[in-house]
Amino acid sequence: MRQFWISAALAIVLTVTLMASGQERQEKKGEGGGVTVSFKDDITPLLKKHCLPCHAEENFNPSELSLDSYDNLMAGGKHGPPVVQGKASESLLIEKLGEEPPFGDRMPLIRKKNAGNPDKLTTEEIEMLQEWINQGAKDN
Ligand code: HEC
Repeated sequence: MRQFWISAALAIVLTVTLMASGQERQEKKGEGGGVTVSFKDDITPLLKKHCLPCHAEENFNPSELSLDSYDNLMAGGKHGPPVVQGKASESLLIEKLGEEPPFGDRMPLIRKKNAGNPDKLTTEEIEMLQEWINQGAKDN
């Protein structure tokens, strides 16, 4: 009988510990510690820095692709919507960042004679874009 109570107590302690650590993990996820990518907080600054010098309605706006709002980005340009929600590998937005885009040049385009060239994206920035698309490309 005594042994039963000891195992019961252990089981309770174990369950409580597991529940607590599970909750902690969930909280971390919500904090945006690189896990949930936010369009507003993570993607907008990235597009602004690397893409808006050209892809904004009041700027150069090549291929009629404006990246200055969620709706404009999702609508896309000449080649249609550049984002396939949940599928970064099928999204033109990602393909255009790679070494061999399906057409045209690699983004962000380098303007040869212009001193004000936008920076290339870092691996982390590309991964963040991919992650955002894989998480459903939400307006979050
Ligand atoms: C210096 C100007 C410039 C910058 C900066 C730039 N682009 Fe572009 N982009 C272009 C030009 C020019 C084209 C049209 C020719 C081509 O497709 O290569 C284009 C085309 C595209 C297209 C194809 C649109 C379509 O429907 O045909 C995508 C997608 C794209 N850019 C994404 C991006 C992203 C994402 C960024 C930022 C990481 C970016 N571009 C930054 C100049 C730029």
